[in-house]
Amino acid sequence: MRIKFAPPRLPRTGTLVLFVGDGRKLTPQGMQLDRRSGKALTRALNASRFRGRAEETLAVLAPAKLGVARVLLVGSGKADAGDRGLWQRCGGAIVAALTTSGESEAAVLIEAGERSAEIAAHVAYGARLRSYRFDKYRTKEKPEQKPSLKSVSLLVADVAAARRRYAPLDKIADGVFFTRDLVSEPANVVYPESLAERAKALTDLGVEVEILDEKKMATLGMNALLGVGQGSARPPRLLIMQWHGADDKKQPPVAFVGKGITFDTGGISIKPSAGMEDMKWDMGGAGAVIGLMKALAGRKAKVNAVGIGALAENMPSGTAQRPGDIVKSLSGQTIEVLNTDAEGRLVLADALWYCQDRFKPRAMVDLATLTGAIIIALGHEHAGLYSNDEKLAEQLIAAGKATGETLWRMPLGDTYNKLMDSDAADVKNISGGRDAGSVTAACFLERFVNKVPWAHLDIAGTAWTTKDKPVVPKGATGFGVRLLNRFVRDNYETPAAK
Ligand code: BES
Ligand code: MN
Ligand code: ZN
Repeated sequence: MRIKFAPPRLPRTGTLVLFVGDGRKLTPQGMQLDRRSGKALTRALNASRFRGRAEETLAVLAPAKLGVARVLLVGSGKADAGDRGLWQRCGGAIVAALTTSGESEAAVLIEAGERSAEIAAHVAYGARLRSYRFDKYRTKEKPEQKPSLKSVSLLVADVAAARRRYAPLDKIADGVFFTRDLVSEPANVVYPESLAERAKALTDLGVEVEILDEKKMATLGMNALLGVGQGSARPPRLLIMQWHGADDKKQPPVAFVGKGITFDTGGISIKPSAGMEDMKWDMGGAGAVIGLMKALAGRKAKVNAVGIGALAENMPSGTAQRPGDIVKSLSGQTIEVLNTDAEGRLVLADALWYCQDRFKPRAMVDLATLTGAIIIALGHEHAGLYSNDEKLAEQLIAAGKATGETLWRMPLGDTYNKLMDSDAADVKNISGGRDAGSVTAACFLERFVNKVPWAHLDIAGTAWTTKDKPVVPKGATGFGVRLLNRFVRDNYETPAAK
Protein backbone atom coordinates (compact mmCIF):
# COMPACT_ATOMS: atom_id res chain seq x y z
CA MET A 1 0.00 0.00 0.00
CA ARG A 2 1.32 3.41 -0.96
CA ILE A 3 1.28 6.64 1.03
CA LYS A 4 0.98 9.92 -0.86
CA PHE A 5 0.73 13.57 0.03
CA ALA A 6 -1.16 16.09 -2.09
CA PRO A 7 -2.70 19.57 -1.80
CA PRO A 8 -6.22 19.72 -0.38
CA ARG A 9 -8.42 19.47 -3.45
CA LEU A 10 -11.44 17.25 -3.22
CA PRO A 11 -10.89 14.06 -5.20
CA ARG A 12 -13.20 12.90 -8.00
CA THR A 13 -12.52 9.20 -7.52
CA GLY A 14 -11.96 6.77 -4.67
CA THR A 15 -13.12 7.26 -1.09
CA LEU A 16 -13.03 10.64 0.60
CA VAL A 17 -12.11 10.38 4.28
CA LEU A 18 -13.26 13.10 6.68
CA PHE A 19 -12.55 13.43 10.38
CA VAL A 20 -15.30 14.21 12.86
CA GLY A 21 -14.48 15.03 16.46
CA ASP A 22 -16.35 13.74 19.50
CA GLY A 23 -19.80 15.32 19.69
CA ARG A 24 -18.82 17.76 16.97
CA LYS A 25 -20.73 18.44 13.85
CA LEU A 26 -19.35 18.20 10.40
CA THR A 27 -18.15 21.65 9.43
CA PRO A 28 -18.68 22.07 5.71
CA GLN A 29 -16.17 24.94 5.36
CA GLY A 30 -13.45 23.05 7.18
CA MET A 31 -14.20 20.13 4.93
CA GLN A 32 -14.47 22.34 1.87
CA LEU A 33 -17.83 20.83 1.13
CA ASP A 34 -20.73 22.60 -0.47
CA ARG A 35 -23.66 23.16 1.91
CA ARG A 36 -25.91 20.53 0.39
CA SER A 37 -23.28 17.82 0.64
CA GLY A 38 -22.54 18.89 4.20
CA LYS A 39 -26.23 18.61 5.07
CA ALA A 40 -26.56 15.20 3.47
CA LEU A 41 -23.59 13.89 5.41
CA THR A 42 -24.93 15.36 8.64
CA ARG A 43 -28.21 13.56 8.01
CA ALA A 44 -26.36 10.28 7.49
CA LEU A 45 -24.43 10.92 10.68
CA ASN A 46 -27.54 11.62 12.68
CA ALA A 47 -29.20 8.48 11.44
CA SER A 48 -26.33 6.35 12.77
CA ARG A 49 -24.74 5.63 16.11
CA PHE A 50 -21.54 7.24 14.97
CA ARG A 51 -20.53 9.86 17.55
CA GLY A 52 -17.03 10.79 16.45
CA ARG A 53 -15.35 8.86 19.20
CA ALA A 54 -11.73 8.05 18.50
CA GLU A 55 -11.21 5.45 15.76
CA GLU A 56 -14.96 5.04 15.08
CA THR A 57 -15.69 4.79 11.37
CA LEU A 58 -18.82 5.16 9.26
CA ALA A 59 -18.85 4.59 5.51
CA VAL A 60 -21.68 6.32 3.64
CA LEU A 61 -22.73 6.76 0.07
CA ALA A 62 -21.33 10.10 -1.08
CA PRO A 63 -23.77 12.98 -1.70
CA ALA A 64 -24.37 13.31 -5.42
CA LYS A 65 -22.47 16.57 -5.84
CA LEU A 66 -19.19 15.06 -4.70
CA GLY A 67 -17.37 13.17 -7.41
CA VAL A 68 -16.43 10.29 -5.15
CA ALA A 69 -18.65 7.27 -4.61
CA ARG A 70 -18.04 6.88 -0.91
CA VAL A 71 -17.29 9.00 2.12
CA LEU A 72 -15.66 7.47 5.16
CA LEU A 73 -16.23 9.40 8.37
CA VAL A 74 -13.59 8.78 11.00
CA GLY A 75 -13.93 9.77 14.64
CA SER A 76 -11.02 11.75 16.00
CA GLY A 77 -12.47 11.86 19.51
CA LYS A 78 -11.40 14.60 21.88
CA ALA A 79 -8.00 14.77 20.25
CA ASP A 80 -5.98 17.84 20.63
CA ALA A 81 -3.77 18.27 17.63
CA GLY A 82 -0.71 17.08 19.58
CA ASP A 83 -1.94 13.58 20.35
CA ARG A 84 0.17 11.74 17.78
CA GLY A 85 -0.82 8.28 18.97
CA LEU A 86 -4.46 9.11 18.40
CA TRP A 87 -3.84 10.30 14.84
CA GLN A 88 -1.85 7.15 14.19
CA ARG A 89 -4.75 5.04 15.44
CA CYS A 90 -7.09 7.00 13.19
CA GLY A 91 -4.83 6.20 10.24
CA GLY A 92 -5.01 2.56 11.24
CA ALA A 93 -8.80 2.71 11.47
CA ILE A 94 -9.03 4.09 7.94
CA VAL A 95 -7.01 1.21 6.55
CA ALA A 96 -8.95 -1.34 8.60
CA ALA A 97 -12.25 0.03 7.28
CA LEU A 98 -11.19 0.06 3.64
CA THR A 99 -8.63 -2.71 3.10
CA THR A 100 -11.03 -5.29 1.76
CA SER A 101 -13.88 -2.93 0.91
CA GLY A 102 -13.21 -3.07 -2.80
CA GLU A 103 -11.92 0.49 -2.71
CA SER A 104 -8.44 1.04 -4.08
CA GLU A 105 -7.80 4.70 -3.26
CA ALA A 106 -8.51 6.76 -0.18
CA ALA A 107 -7.96 10.50 0.13
CA VAL A 108 -7.88 11.85 3.66
CA LEU A 109 -8.70 15.51 4.10
CA ILE A 110 -6.63 17.07 6.86
CA GLU A 111 -8.24 20.22 8.24
CA ALA A 112 -6.11 23.34 7.89
CA GLY A 113 -4.35 24.37 11.07
CA GLU A 114 -1.02 25.00 12.69
CA ARG A 115 -0.23 21.30 13.14
CA SER A 116 -1.85 19.90 10.01
CA ALA A 117 1.46 18.70 8.52
CA GLU A 118 2.25 16.77 11.68
CA ILE A 119 -1.26 15.32 11.84
CA ALA A 120 -1.04 14.24 8.20
CA ALA A 121 2.31 12.53 8.83
CA HIS A 122 1.02 10.59 11.82
CA VAL A 123 -2.22 9.55 10.11
CA ALA A 124 -0.07 8.28 7.25
CA TYR A 125 2.25 6.44 9.66
CA GLY A 126 -0.65 4.69 11.39
CA ALA A 127 -2.18 3.78 8.05
CA ARG A 128 1.05 2.25 6.83
CA LEU A 129 1.66 0.33 10.08
CA ARG A 130 -1.83 -1.16 9.92
CA SER A 131 -1.54 -2.11 6.25
CA TYR A 132 1.06 -4.81 6.93
CA ARG A 133 0.23 -8.26 5.64
CA PHE A 134 2.29 -11.43 5.50
CA ASP A 135 0.82 -13.27 2.53
CA LYS A 136 3.77 -14.63 0.58
CA TYR A 137 2.70 -18.23 1.13
CA ARG A 138 -0.96 -17.73 0.18
CA THR A 139 -0.78 -18.75 -3.42
CA LYS A 140 -4.44 -19.58 -3.98
CA GLU A 141 -6.02 -16.35 -2.81
CA LYS A 142 -8.75 -15.06 -5.09
CA PRO A 143 -8.58 -11.42 -6.12
CA GLU A 144 -11.61 -10.58 -3.97
CA GLN A 145 -9.85 -12.00 -0.91
CA LYS A 146 -6.84 -9.80 -1.40
CA PRO A 147 -6.69 -6.28 0.00
CA SER A 148 -8.13 -3.80 -2.47
CA LEU A 149 -6.69 -0.64 -0.96
CA LYS A 150 -3.65 0.43 -2.95
CA SER A 151 -3.04 3.97 -1.77
CA VAL A 152 -3.84 6.44 0.96
CA SER A 153 -3.36 10.10 0.08
CA LEU A 154 -3.14 12.78 2.70
CA LEU A 155 -4.64 16.04 1.46
CA VAL A 156 -2.80 18.74 3.34
CA ALA A 157 -1.96 22.42 2.81
CA ASP A 158 1.79 22.19 3.29
CA VAL A 159 2.69 19.07 1.35
CA ALA A 160 6.44 19.56 1.70
CA ALA A 161 6.23 19.95 5.48
CA ALA A 162 4.06 16.82 5.79
CA ARG A 163 6.49 14.81 3.65
CA ARG A 164 9.38 16.02 5.77
CA ARG A 165 7.60 14.97 8.95
CA TYR A 166 6.69 11.63 7.48
CA ALA A 167 10.14 10.67 6.14
CA PRO A 168 11.64 9.35 9.41
CA LEU A 169 8.35 7.67 10.35
CA ASP A 170 8.43 5.79 7.07
CA LYS A 171 11.90 4.48 7.95
CA ILE A 172 10.69 3.33 11.36
CA ALA A 173 7.81 1.52 9.65
CA ASP A 174 10.37 -0.15 7.35
CA GLY A 175 12.09 -1.46 10.48
CA VAL A 176 8.79 -2.63 11.99
CA PHE A 177 7.88 -4.43 8.76
CA PHE A 178 11.29 -6.10 8.57
CA THR A 179 10.79 -7.41 12.11
CA ARG A 180 7.25 -8.57 11.34
CA ASP A 181 8.50 -10.43 8.25
CA LEU A 182 11.26 -12.19 10.19
CA VAL A 183 8.96 -13.14 13.05
CA SER A 184 6.17 -14.34 10.72
CA GLU A 185 8.43 -16.69 8.77
CA PRO A 186 8.23 -20.35 9.77
CA ALA A 187 11.21 -22.06 11.37
CA ASN A 188 12.04 -24.11 8.27
CA VAL A 189 12.77 -20.82 6.53
CA VAL A 190 14.15 -18.69 9.35
CA TYR A 191 16.82 -20.59 11.30
CA PRO A 192 20.02 -19.21 12.82
CA GLU A 193 22.07 -19.11 9.62
CA SER A 194 19.29 -17.77 7.40
CA LEU A 195 18.21 -15.20 9.98
CA ALA A 196 21.77 -13.88 10.24
CA GLU A 197 21.95 -13.88 6.46
CA ARG A 198 18.80 -11.76 6.22
CA ALA A 199 20.23 -9.27 8.69
CA LYS A 200 23.22 -8.89 6.36
CA ALA A 201 20.96 -6.88 4.07
CA LEU A 202 21.41 -4.02 6.55
CA THR A 203 24.96 -3.49 5.23
CA ASP A 204 23.29 -1.62 2.34
CA LEU A 205 22.19 0.98 4.88
CA GLY A 206 25.68 1.32 6.35
CA VAL A 207 25.28 -1.14 9.22
CA GLU A 208 28.35 -3.26 9.94
CA VAL A 209 27.24 -6.88 10.24
CA GLU A 210 29.34 -9.68 11.72
CA ILE A 211 28.29 -13.28 12.18
CA LEU A 212 30.07 -15.62 14.59
CA ASP A 213 29.71 -19.31 13.75
CA GLU A 214 29.76 -22.20 16.21
CA LYS A 215 33.53 -22.67 15.90
CA LYS A 216 34.29 -19.07 16.71
CA MET A 217 31.86 -19.16 19.64
CA ALA A 218 33.53 -22.32 20.95
CA THR A 219 36.91 -20.60 20.86
CA LEU A 220 35.48 -17.68 22.79
CA GLY A 221 33.85 -19.98 25.36
CA MET A 222 30.16 -19.32 24.69
CA ASN A 223 29.13 -22.72 25.99
CA ALA A 224 25.78 -21.62 27.38
CA LEU A 225 24.62 -20.52 23.94
CA LEU A 226 26.23 -23.49 22.19
CA GLY A 227 24.62 -25.94 24.60
CA VAL A 228 21.16 -24.74 23.56
CA GLY A 229 21.95 -25.21 19.86
CA GLN A 230 23.75 -28.54 20.11
CA GLY A 231 20.67 -30.70 19.58
CA SER A 232 19.80 -29.07 16.28
CA ALA A 233 20.95 -29.81 12.76
CA ARG A 234 20.89 -26.01 12.30
CA PRO A 235 24.01 -24.61 13.97
CA PRO A 236 23.74 -21.52 16.20
CA ARG A 237 25.03 -18.07 15.32
CA LEU A 238 25.84 -14.83 17.08
CA LEU A 239 24.73 -11.84 15.04
CA ILE A 240 26.47 -8.52 15.69
CA MET A 241 25.32 -5.29 14.06
CA GLN A 242 26.92 -1.90 14.52
CA TRP A 243 25.60 1.48 13.46
CA HIS A 244 28.00 4.38 13.80
CA GLY A 245 25.76 7.40 13.35
CA ALA A 246 27.09 9.73 16.05
CA ASP A 247 29.43 12.55 15.08
CA ASP A 248 31.96 11.04 17.46
CA LYS A 249 32.41 7.54 16.07
CA LYS A 250 34.29 6.59 19.22
CA GLN A 251 31.46 7.43 21.59
CA PRO A 252 30.41 4.29 23.50
CA PRO A 253 27.25 2.78 22.01
CA VAL A 254 23.85 2.01 23.37
CA ALA A 255 23.36 -1.73 22.96
CA PHE A 256 20.42 -4.03 22.25
CA VAL A 257 20.47 -7.78 22.67
CA GLY A 258 17.73 -10.10 21.40
CA LYS A 259 16.76 -13.67 22.16
CA GLY A 260 16.74 -15.42 18.81
CA ILE A 261 15.46 -18.95 19.33
CA THR A 262 14.25 -19.69 15.81
CA PHE A 263 12.22 -22.59 17.18
CA ASP A 264 11.73 -23.67 20.76
CA THR A 265 10.58 -27.27 21.16
CA GLY A 266 11.75 -27.15 24.76
CA GLY A 267 14.55 -29.57 23.91
CA ILE A 268 14.71 -32.73 26.01
CA SER A 269 12.37 -30.97 28.49
CA ILE A 270 10.00 -31.03 25.55
CA LYS A 271 6.89 -28.87 25.34
CA PRO A 272 3.39 -30.29 24.80
CA SER A 273 2.48 -30.38 21.09
CA ALA A 274 -0.62 -28.19 21.37
CA GLY A 275 0.34 -24.67 20.39
CA MET A 276 3.99 -25.51 19.85
CA GLU A 277 3.84 -23.81 16.46
CA ASP A 278 3.83 -20.52 18.34
CA MET A 279 7.45 -21.15 19.16
CA LYS A 280 8.48 -20.08 15.68
CA TRP A 281 8.23 -16.55 17.05
CA ASP A 282 10.61 -17.26 19.90
CA MET A 283 13.12 -15.15 17.96
CA GLY A 284 10.93 -12.05 18.40
CA GLY A 285 13.59 -10.36 20.53
CA ALA A 286 16.32 -10.75 17.94
CA GLY A 287 13.81 -9.86 15.23
CA ALA A 288 13.05 -6.59 17.02
CA VAL A 289 16.73 -5.77 17.43
CA ILE A 290 17.30 -6.30 13.69
CA GLY A 291 14.30 -4.12 12.78
CA LEU A 292 15.43 -1.47 15.23
CA MET A 293 18.87 -1.33 13.60
CA LYS A 294 17.16 -0.99 10.24
CA ALA A 295 15.04 1.89 11.54
CA LEU A 296 18.01 3.69 13.10
CA ALA A 297 20.19 3.29 10.03
CA GLY A 298 17.30 4.06 7.69
CA ARG A 299 16.69 7.44 9.27
CA LYS A 300 20.41 7.99 9.84
CA ALA A 301 20.04 8.39 13.57
CA LYS A 302 22.87 10.34 15.16
CA VAL A 303 23.82 7.62 17.58
CA ASN A 304 26.24 4.75 17.93
CA ALA A 305 24.21 1.61 18.45
CA VAL A 306 25.01 -2.07 18.69
CA GLY A 307 22.53 -4.86 18.05
CA ILE A 308 23.19 -8.46 18.96
CA GLY A 309 21.10 -11.52 18.17
CA ALA A 310 21.67 -14.76 20.10
CA LEU A 311 20.50 -17.27 17.51
CA ALA A 312 19.87 -20.96 18.10
CA GLU A 313 17.26 -23.65 17.55
CA ASN A 314 16.22 -25.60 20.65
CA MET A 315 15.68 -29.23 19.57
CA PRO A 316 15.67 -32.65 21.23
CA SER A 317 18.00 -35.20 19.66
CA GLY A 318 20.84 -37.57 20.40
CA THR A 319 23.20 -34.63 20.62
CA ALA A 320 20.89 -32.42 22.64
CA GLN A 321 21.73 -30.97 26.01
CA ARG A 322 20.31 -32.98 28.95
CA PRO A 323 18.64 -31.79 32.14
CA GLY A 324 21.39 -31.77 34.75
CA ASP A 325 24.16 -30.81 32.34
CA ILE A 326 26.55 -28.17 33.63
CA VAL A 327 28.02 -25.64 31.20
CA LYS A 328 30.67 -23.02 31.67
CA SER A 329 29.41 -19.69 30.32
CA LEU A 330 31.49 -17.00 28.65
CA SER A 331 31.44 -15.06 31.92
CA GLY A 332 33.20 -17.94 33.64
CA GLN A 333 30.18 -18.75 35.76
CA THR A 334 28.99 -22.35 35.60
CA ILE A 335 25.31 -23.03 34.96
CA GLU A 336 23.35 -26.11 35.92
CA VAL A 337 20.76 -26.69 33.19
CA LEU A 338 17.87 -28.22 35.09
CA ASN A 339 15.31 -27.58 32.38
CA THR A 340 16.29 -27.37 28.71
CA ASP A 341 13.13 -25.35 28.03
CA ALA A 342 14.57 -22.42 29.99
CA GLU A 343 16.90 -21.85 27.03
CA GLY A 344 16.41 -18.16 26.31
CA ARG A 345 18.24 -17.10 29.43
CA LEU A 346 21.12 -19.41 28.49
CA VAL A 347 21.71 -17.89 25.08
CA LEU A 348 21.28 -14.40 26.54
CA ALA A 349 23.76 -15.10 29.33
CA ASP A 350 26.56 -15.37 26.79
CA ALA A 351 25.27 -12.64 24.48
CA LEU A 352 24.89 -10.11 27.31
CA TRP A 353 28.32 -10.88 28.72
CA TYR A 354 29.88 -10.64 25.26
CA CYS A 355 28.11 -7.35 24.61
CA GLN A 356 29.25 -5.55 27.74
CA ASP A 357 32.75 -7.01 27.56
CA ARG A 358 33.40 -6.02 23.95
CA PHE A 359 31.44 -2.79 23.55
CA LYS A 360 31.41 -1.22 27.03
CA PRO A 361 27.95 0.19 26.23
CA ARG A 362 26.39 3.24 27.92
CA ALA A 363 23.36 1.06 28.47
CA MET A 364 22.28 -2.40 27.43
CA VAL A 365 18.66 -3.42 26.77
CA ASP A 366 17.64 -6.98 26.01
CA LEU A 367 14.38 -8.16 24.49
CA ALA A 368 13.21 -11.72 24.87
CA THR A 369 10.10 -13.86 24.57
CA LEU A 370 11.43 -15.25 27.80
CA THR A 371 8.63 -16.61 29.96
CA GLY A 372 5.04 -17.76 29.86
CA ALA A 373 4.87 -16.33 33.36
CA ILE A 374 4.97 -12.74 32.10
CA ILE A 375 1.78 -13.46 30.15
CA ILE A 376 0.14 -14.66 33.36
CA ALA A 377 1.26 -11.47 35.09
CA LEU A 378 0.59 -8.81 32.45
CA GLY A 379 -1.33 -10.44 29.62
CA HIS A 380 -0.76 -8.79 26.27
CA GLU A 381 -1.04 -5.13 27.27
CA HIS A 382 2.43 -4.44 28.62
CA ALA A 383 5.82 -6.03 28.27
CA GLY A 384 7.60 -6.74 31.55
CA LEU A 385 10.44 -4.36 32.37
CA TYR A 386 13.28 -5.24 34.70
CA SER A 387 16.22 -2.95 35.33
CA ASN A 388 19.16 -2.39 37.63
CA ASP A 389 19.06 1.34 36.81
CA GLU A 390 16.26 3.75 37.81
CA LYS A 391 16.94 6.31 35.12
CA LEU A 392 17.09 3.73 32.36
CA ALA A 393 13.82 2.24 33.56
CA GLU A 394 12.14 5.66 33.54
CA GLN A 395 13.41 6.44 30.06
CA LEU A 396 12.03 3.16 28.75
CA ILE A 397 8.67 3.60 30.45
CA ALA A 398 8.38 7.09 28.95
CA ALA A 399 9.23 5.81 25.47
CA GLY A 400 6.58 3.13 25.94
CA LYS A 401 3.91 5.68 26.77
CA ALA A 402 4.90 7.83 23.82
CA THR A 403 4.70 4.98 21.31
CA GLY A 404 1.93 2.83 22.74
CA GLU A 405 4.36 -0.08 23.18
CA THR A 406 3.91 0.05 26.91
CA LEU A 407 6.04 -1.41 29.68
CA TRP A 408 5.29 -2.34 33.26
CA ARG A 409 8.10 -2.37 35.79
CA MET A 410 8.68 -5.62 37.65
CA PRO A 411 10.97 -6.23 40.62
CA LEU A 412 14.45 -7.64 40.99
CA GLY A 413 16.08 -8.29 44.36
CA ASP A 414 18.27 -10.48 46.50
CA THR A 415 15.50 -12.66 47.84
CA TYR A 416 14.40 -13.56 44.31
CA ASN A 417 17.96 -13.79 43.07
CA LYS A 418 18.91 -16.33 45.72
CA LEU A 419 16.33 -18.73 44.29
CA MET A 420 18.66 -19.25 41.34
CA ASP A 421 21.60 -20.50 43.41
CA SER A 422 22.55 -24.05 42.46
CA ASP A 423 23.89 -26.83 44.68
CA ALA A 424 26.01 -28.17 41.85
CA ALA A 425 27.16 -25.03 39.99
CA ASP A 426 27.28 -21.24 40.36
CA VAL A 427 23.72 -20.76 39.16
CA LYS A 428 20.85 -22.91 37.92
CA ASN A 429 18.60 -22.06 35.01
CA ILE A 430 15.26 -22.56 36.79
CA SER A 431 14.27 -21.80 40.36
CA GLY A 432 12.45 -25.08 40.77
CA GLY A 433 9.01 -23.62 41.36
CA ARG A 434 6.61 -21.70 39.17
CA ASP A 435 6.33 -18.72 41.51
CA ALA A 436 7.48 -15.40 40.04
CA GLY A 437 8.75 -17.23 36.96
CA SER A 438 9.40 -14.09 34.97
CA VAL A 439 11.20 -12.44 37.91
CA THR A 440 13.53 -15.33 38.56
CA ALA A 441 14.37 -15.47 34.83
CA ALA A 442 15.32 -11.78 34.98
CA CYS A 443 17.43 -12.42 38.09
CA PHE A 444 19.30 -15.08 36.16
CA LEU A 445 20.06 -12.59 33.38
CA GLU A 446 21.21 -9.95 35.85
CA ARG A 447 24.06 -12.23 36.87
CA PHE A 448 25.48 -11.84 33.35
CA VAL A 449 25.42 -8.07 32.87
CA ASN A 450 28.44 -7.25 35.01
CA LYS A 451 26.63 -4.31 36.64
CA VAL A 452 26.36 -2.16 33.50
CA PRO A 453 23.11 -0.15 33.27
CA TRP A 454 20.80 -2.79 31.89
CA ALA A 455 17.14 -3.42 31.25
CA HIS A 456 15.36 -6.58 30.25
CA LEU A 457 12.06 -6.56 28.37
CA ASP A 458 10.09 -9.79 28.60
CA ILE A 459 8.04 -9.59 25.39
CA ALA A 460 6.48 -13.08 25.45
CA GLY A 461 3.02 -11.46 25.69
CA THR A 462 3.54 -8.71 23.14
CA ALA A 463 5.61 -10.08 20.24
CA TRP A 464 2.55 -11.70 18.66
CA THR A 465 -1.13 -10.79 18.69
CA THR A 466 -4.12 -12.96 17.86
CA LYS A 467 -6.34 -9.87 17.59
CA ASP A 468 -6.13 -6.89 15.28
CA LYS A 469 -5.02 -3.72 17.06
CA PRO A 470 -5.29 -0.13 15.81
CA VAL A 471 -1.88 0.02 14.14
CA VAL A 472 -0.98 -3.66 14.40
CA PRO A 473 -2.81 -6.30 12.37
CA LYS A 474 -2.93 -9.74 13.96
CA GLY A 475 0.26 -11.76 13.80
CA ALA A 476 3.79 -10.55 14.41
CA THR A 477 3.64 -7.11 16.05
CA GLY A 478 7.19 -5.87 15.65
CA PHE A 479 6.99 -4.89 19.32
CA GLY A 480 10.09 -3.07 20.48
CA VAL A 481 11.08 -1.31 17.28
CA ARG A 482 8.96 1.80 17.78
CA LEU A 483 9.61 1.75 21.53
CA LEU A 484 13.39 1.54 21.31
CA ASN A 485 13.65 3.87 18.36
CA ARG A 486 11.92 6.44 20.53
CA PHE A 487 14.09 5.59 23.53
CA VAL A 488 17.20 6.20 21.41
CA ARG A 489 15.81 9.38 19.89
CA ASP A 490 14.88 10.92 23.23
CA ASN A 491 17.97 9.95 25.23
CA TYR A 492 20.96 9.07 23.08
CA GLU A 493 20.86 11.08 19.89
CA THR A 494 22.91 14.20 19.31
CA PRO A 495 21.62 16.70 18.68
CA ALA A 496 18.25 15.67 20.02
CA ALA A 497 15.94 15.44 17.02
CA LYS A 498 12.54 17.06 17.14
N1 BES B 1 9.92 -19.32 24.77
C1 BES B 1 9.42 -19.76 26.01
C2 BES B 1 8.51 -18.71 26.68
C3 BES B 1 7.24 -18.39 25.96
C4 BES B 1 6.06 -19.02 26.31
C5 BES B 1 7.19 -17.42 25.00
C6 BES B 1 4.87 -18.70 25.68
C7 BES B 1 6.02 -17.10 24.35
C8 BES B 1 4.85 -17.74 24.69
C9 BES B 1 10.58 -20.04 26.97
O1 BES B 1 11.74 -20.51 26.38
C10 BES B 1 10.12 -21.07 27.91
O2 BES B 1 9.91 -22.17 27.49
N2 BES B 1 9.99 -20.71 29.18
C11 BES B 1 9.54 -21.60 30.18
C12 BES B 1 10.45 -21.43 31.37
C13 BES B 1 10.29 -22.51 32.40
C14 BES B 1 10.83 -23.82 31.86
C15 BES B 1 11.05 -22.10 33.63
C16 BES B 1 8.10 -21.23 30.54
O3 BES B 1 7.77 -20.05 30.48
O4 BES B 1 7.32 -22.14 30.78
MN1 MN C 1 11.76 -22.62 26.20
ZN1 ZN D 1 12.02 -20.01 24.42
